[in-house]
Amino acid sequence: MTSAVLTGFNQNAAQYDIHADVQREVAAWLAEWLPAKLDGAALELGAGTGIFTRHLAARTARLEASDAAPEMVRIGAAAFPAVQWSIADAATTLAGGPYRWIFNCSLAQWLPAPDRAFREWRRAAAPGARLVAGWFIRGTLENFFQICPEATPFAWRDAKDWMELLEQSGWRVTRWETRRLIRRHPDATAMLRAVHNLGATVPRRLGIAHLRRVLRTFDQLHGDKNGVRSTFAFLRVEAETDH
Ligand SMILES: C[S@@+](CC[C@H](N)C(=O)[O-])C[C@H]1O[C@@H](n2cnc3c(N)ncnc32)[C@H](O)[C@@H]1O
Repeated sequence: MTSAVLTGFNQNAAQYDIHADVQREVAAWLAEWLPAKLDGAALELGAGTGIFTRHLAARTARLEASDAAPEMVRIGAAAFPAVQWSIADAATTLAGGPYRWIFNCSLAQWLPAPDRAFREWRRAAAPGARLVAGWFIRGTLENFFQICPEATPFAWRDAKDWMELLEQSGWRVTRWETRRLIRRHPDATAMLRAVHNLGATVPRRLGIAHLRRVLRTFDQLHGDKNGVRSTFAFLRVEAETDH
């Protein structure tokens, strides 16, 4: 995790739950693929304040949850004390395992080298382990990034790119599905603030004057009497270890 990303999530951790309605909706959608009970050791990565952890904790008493942002972990641990929490980078060597289940929700798009992370998750997985995960893909805030590509915090990938990365990293994908969500905002400034409130940062190099011009252009191109719309594209995946 780059320190700017970590700082953003850490600083905004206390208000994350207030603003994370899209994340709550996709977490519930991903949870549709969970069995009623989880057997064996389970690990959730990038757990944040516990929006997806809630679904897991209802299904197992053997859950470890981690996040790289200490404030996220503090809030998550207070909300779900029965879960074993730790501060950990999902992209580097995982301390525990082997795990029967590996989970994460709304994390993987943030990983600078997701293939490396996928291989590490594979290493920490028990034989026959299952990965159930979901994250945002290309199509998320696409109207905004079309006008201002330099604001993109990472390289967006589509579902096919992600499937290839998973398969190359030792995961056999058993099912996957994408979903689009739309939210309305009074204007582009409010839209960007909603994203920022979650802790997701716009790169500093952008400059305030440039950003204002972009927001004006966005309002002119995409605004109507109901304000503007933000779009989110989310991928859910279930995969197994390949041997
Ligand atoms: C959008 S939030 C999702 C949190 C939670 N899973 C949810 O569904 O609401 C992304 C989370 O990933 C964490 N994160 C980002 N990069 C990470 C990394 N490399 N390792 C561990 N956590 C990371 C952030 O600190 C943040 O808590």
